Order: sequence, then structure tokens, then C-alpha cells
Amino acid sequence: MNKVLCMAFGVSALFSPSIIMAETVHVSTPKTSLVLEATNGDPLKFVYYGNALTAVDMESLKAAGIPNFNAYPVYGLWPEKEAAMSAVHADGNMTLDMAVSGVKTRKDADGSEVTTVTMTDRVYPLTIDVNYRTFPGEDVIETWTETTHNEKGDVTLNRFMSGYLPVRRSDVHVSQFYGSWANEGKLEEAPLPHGVKMIKNKDGVRNSHTSHGEVMISLDGKGRENEGRVIGAALCYGGNYKLMFDTDDSDYHHFFAGINEENSAYHLKKGETFATPPLALTYSEEGLGGASRNFHKWGRDYRLAHGNTPRKILLNSWEGVYFDINEEGMKQMMTDIADMGGELFVMDDGWFGVKYPRNNDSTSLGDWTVDTNKLPNGIKGLCDAAKERGIKFGIWIEPEMTNSASELYEEHPEYVIKAPKRDAIEGRGGTQLVLDLANPKVQDFVFNVVDTLMTKYPEIDYIKWDANAPIMNHGSQYLTADNQSHLYIDYHKGFTAAVERIREKYPDVTIQACASGGGRANWGVLPYFDEFWVSDNTDALQRIYMQWGTSYFFPAIAMASHISASPNHQTNRIVPLKFRTDVAMSGRLGMEIQPKDMTAEEKEQTRKAIEDYKLVRDVVQLGDLYRLLSPYDGKGAASLMYVAPDKNDAVYYWWKTEQFVNQQLPRVKMAGLDPDKTYVVTELNRVDNEPLPYEGKAFTGRFLMSNGLEMPLSHNVDWNKRNDYASRVLRLTAK
Ligand code: DGJ
Repeated sequence: MNKVLCMAFGVSALFSPSIIMAETVHVSTPKTSLVLEATNGDPLKFVYYGNALTAVDMESLKAAGIPNFNAYPVYGLWPEKEAAMSAVHADGNMTLDMAVSGVKTRKDADGSEVTTVTMTDRVYPLTIDVNYRTFPGEDVIETWTETTHNEKGDVTLNRFMSGYLPVRRSDVHVSQFYGSWANEGKLEEAPLPHGVKMIKNKDGVRNSHTSHGEVMISLDGKGRENEGRVIGAALCYGGNYKLMFDTDDSDYHHFFAGINEENSAYHLKKGETFATPPLALTYSEEGLGGASRNFHKWGRDYRLAHGNTPRKILLNSWEGVYFDINEEGMKQMMTDIADMGGELFVMDDGWFGVKYPRNNDSTSLGDWTVDTNKLPNGIKGLCDAAKERGIKFGIWIEPEMTNSASELYEEHPEYVIKAPKRDAIEGRGGTQLVLDLANPKVQDFVFNVVDTLMTKYPEIDYIKWDANAPIMNHGSQYLTADNQSHLYIDYHKGFTAAVERIREKYPDVTIQACASGGGRANWGVLPYFDEFWVSDNTDALQRIYMQWGTSYFFPAIAMASHISASPNHQTNRIVPLKFRTDVAMSGRLGMEIQPKDMTAEEKEQTRKAIEDYKLVRDVVQLGDLYRLLSPYDGKGAASLMYVAPDKNDAVYYWWKTEQFVNQQLPRVKMAGLDPDKTYVVTELNRVDNEPLPYEGKAFTGRFLMSNGLEMPLSHNVDWNKRNDYASRVLRLTAK
């Protein structure tokens, strides 16, 4: 029988507080509950995760039938089962046998509440703290563990998952995100198979090109956007990860997520703590869309740098000039973006290197000194030029990397990652090397790259932080021979230490996580970064698919989305400016183009589009996302919308994804509006000669959500401007 409540904390008017009874731990958020049984001397048991429970349900919960699984299973006594942690004790014993020894709670400075269940080995002086963090007003629970011991020698950790969750079998589908460079964030959904389904990464540096450390688990068959029960899970980590579903002979799928333990055995010293990264979980009965909105809100409020500050509209120089950086060219680009209403210019790769000027990708990384042959007035000259034009200035760096052709490498060959006795393996440009962030001197170097730039040029408003290589030739010249297996983990500890120092000193600068495009899209790094570059592929049509998948876990404010040239540089596809702009306008709008090559008419069209985007920027970047028609459904079109939290403003996007004559496309119903409010429709970025029939007309939210509006299949433009694309952006303003 449960003993009565012994502690309550964080009482909020909005939701019942997390309550700890002597045996039952109830971790709650406004709409969800996670229940554990934590009886001193017994294993910690998982009881429930799902919709918020009332006191009545809590009382009878066990009678309804609950799983009989440990909340954080460990390896040893039941070796045939998958475990979240396995360890070898100092004396060689390979088993763990953990029992609850205490439960405590605390409130952190950010207002979040942490419930910690401490488990102690029945024989060895080893403890595992299993933590659950909740935030006021958010339906996300973060879980992670901290392991420590007092044994006579090192304990070797061979597996160290952040969390475990039993998922009751029914018709469970998992949505995952796969891809490759320039094709990131592709969505795939499939029912869970018997046996093991594993999603993993072993890049070492960039963990989200080929697969994402996030999954949506739809409990009621194929995931639907606004209905059905969905658990969303995101591992908040920038390094190698492993997500695993083990479907055994029980009634449950066993879900584990954490750092990938492969080649990463960790020798834990007496008194040292091994903390796993948080696994963020959400549960929604509003389908995939509800789970996404929960993640977006939690992310903006607690995990994304400046998550609630609208972003500037920028021009980045990369696809416009590539390595051909010079002062005149940079000034011309600044003038153009300022004239079109942009607010920031970012100078990409190619501005640095004295002994080895950076003219291509084979030299100079690490030599972060301006090349005055290209920029006679240096960075200061560019900052001044930006100021004269009324815009801000940003700069590209790749601080974690060097080239064998660089002054840095000549001075510090010991800084690079490589196995002892072997030559370094060189990546991009045939010469790129990864710096060993396990080494505190390298951490200082990386900090100093930013510190020097920011001290000399405090006007710098934005940093594009690139990372274009995986860890190659596994080995650290810094770590001792017996700790070589720490490299993957210590690299990320070192990375975090460096960016934490940077953020402490420079809290205001905007930083983009770019890692060969979308290699660093994860909630582990985003507390230090404001956004990420979704992909090096800027083709608008392909971006619809990539941004759709990426939106499952990441809000539009974090998704850098740029108008680029036609034909597109990655796909060679010829796409009209209207369509390119309408896709870019659904994320954090920017440009990745040489404006000099645009016609006056195109520049004027872009100027107006930027003006229009400013009208809805807050709704796109801070509003709630409703995905309406998936490009993956192959219906010939895709559509989504953003709705302001007060439901007074919304913006609707529709893109035709296929072109066939007399094609029947579905009429898209809207979502997320207030049924009782009346909305006036205004088309943004309009190119048609005549307004749409519903321009300026008013409709109730109820009508728009049950009927939607017909989208013409083509644009009403002059004959010579016709093309095979069509798209619409509509603003809906409550009267
Ligand atoms: C890879 C990035 O993804 C590009 O946007 C660009 O910054 C290049 N690196 C520069 O080398």
C-alpha cells in the first residue's frame, strides 16, 4: 500500500505538482504523468508514462495492469535482457544489482524541478542517480543518470544509456530521420519489427547527417498529425549516439537511448561522476503535431540560445562567391542585402590565412588571421561598411579543425586527433584534420578563436560555426594509452566546455551550428547555438522534404532557410524565385545567392517578400506549427501553417510538389485556429496579376479548419513568366 504523500514541490496553479510518496514517485507536467515505484531496498520500477493522471487513477493504477520492468535496467543478474548500463567493477565482477536508497527533489535556477532517485549496488559502493527534470508549463520530461563509485580501482562502464522506456505493444510505428550530406532530415515511418531496431551515429563530430538522435513513437498505428497518442524522444547530445528498440517475447517494446558505447569504454575513477546527456521525452494525444509543438515550445523556452528572440534576415556569402572573398565584393553584397531590407551580412569561408591564404579548402584552418591581400581594411573595414549600410556583420569560422597546410599544424602537430604511431588521416581538401578537444589546450585554442575575434571586433553580431570532418584515425595524442577509448566522449566534453566559456563571455552573439550543412542539428548543442544550417542543399523543392522532417523536433526559428540561385547549385534544378522564396519564408529566412546576378525585377520582388516576411516573422518563428499535408504522402502538394499563441495571427504555406496537367490536388484543411474567430486573408509575396478570389475576404476559423481554401494550380502571370511551379503564402489576421 502506498504510504501517504511525504513531499510536494513546485506547486503551480496550472498543474498538479510532482509528488513523492514513500513508494510512488509521480513526475508530472501539465498534461503528462510519469510514475515510478521507488521502494527503499528494491529495484526502481517503471509504472506508467502517458496522459496526466488524477488522484483517483493514481490510486488504482496498479490494478489496471502495469509492466514489471526496472526503470533503469542494468546488466548482470539477468544477462539475457538488454540493459541501460553495464559495468565492470574494480575487482572484475561484471554484474550490477541496484536497489533504491533514496529519493530527493530540487528546484534549479531556471525554474525546473529535478526528481532524483538514487540506486545503490547491494554489494559494491557504486551508485546511480536516475534524474527526471520538468519545467513549468512544458510537457517535456528530461531524464539522465549520474554514476559514481568508491571502489578501490577504476570501474569500467561499457554501456551508459541516458534512459529506458517500456512501450506497450499495439500497432506501434516509429518515425525516424535519415539521409546523408545535402539530403538531411528525410522522414521514414515504419512499424516496429521483432528483434532490434537501431538508429546510431559514429561520426564523432557531426551526428545528424545520416540519421537523427530523435524519434516519434506513434502508439496507435500510422502517425497522424493532430490526433493519436505519440511519444517523442530526443537525445540531447552532439556526439555518437544509439537509439535502440528491442522487441522481445514480452508485451513491450524496450526503448533505450544514449551515448553510443562502441569503442568508448569509460574508466571511471573513484569519486568521479559519469553523467549521461538528457533524453527529452514528450507525450501527446494530439498526434505527431502535438509532440512537435511540445518540443518546439520547450526548446524555445529552455534549450535554444535566445529561443524567443526573432532572428535577423541575412545574406550569407557562400553560394554567391564561394572562396572568392574580397573587400569590394563583400561591400557590394552588403549594399544589395541592405537595399532589399535585410538586416545582416555574413562573410563565409575564405577570409583568413597569411602564410597559407585560404583560396580553397586545402589550407589555412586554424590560422584565423585576416588575409589583408583580400581585405585591405580587415574585419574592421567590413564592420564599418556594414554599419554605414545600417546592417550587422557576421563571420564564418571552423574552430575545431585545421589543415596539414597551416601554421597552426606546423606549430602544434600534437593538437590533432590521430592514433599513436600512425599518420593522421586527412579529410576535406585532402588536408583537413580534427583538433583534439579532449586536450584542454585545444579547448583554450578554440575559445581563443572566438575570444580574439570578439575582442578585436565587438561589432560582430553573428558567427557561423562550421565543422566539416568526422573523427578519423581514432586516437588522442593527449589521452593516456589506457584511456584512448575516452576520445569520443571527451571530445564532446571539451567542445561543451569551450562553447560554455564562449557563451558566458559573449551571451548576446548569434551563433549558427553548421557542420557541412545539417550535421549538427540536435538539442545537445542548441543551448549554445541560436540556429542550425538545415542542409548544404538549398534547392527549394528538396528543402520542403528536409524541412518537413526537421520540423518534427526543431522549431522554425532554429532552421536556417535561404533563397539561393536558379539553377540550384546542388541539384541544378530551375525553380522560379517565387517558389524559392516561399519555401525559405517558412523558416528563418535568409539569402545564399549573388545578388549582383539578380535582375532589378527579382531584387524588387525579394525586397517586397522580405517586407512581407517581417509582417509574419514573429508568427513563423514563435508560433505553433501545424503540418497539414505531407510532401511524403505524394499527393502533389505540401502545406503547413504557423499560428500565434493568441490565435490572432497565422500564416499558411502551400507548395505544389509535382506538375501534371489537370492534376487533382486535395483541398487542404487548416488547423490550430480559433473556430470562433474571424480571419481576413491576405496573400504575401504575391506575383499574380490578379488577386486571389479570397483576398481581403473574412472566414471563421471553423470554416477554414473544416473546408480550407482552394489553391489555384498555377499563377496568373504574363505568358513569358509562366512556369511549372506554384506556391502560396497567406496571412490570416483575426478581425
Ligand atoms: C560547409 C558549409 O555547410 C557551407 O555552408 C560553407 O560554409 C562551407 N562549409 C565553407 O567551406
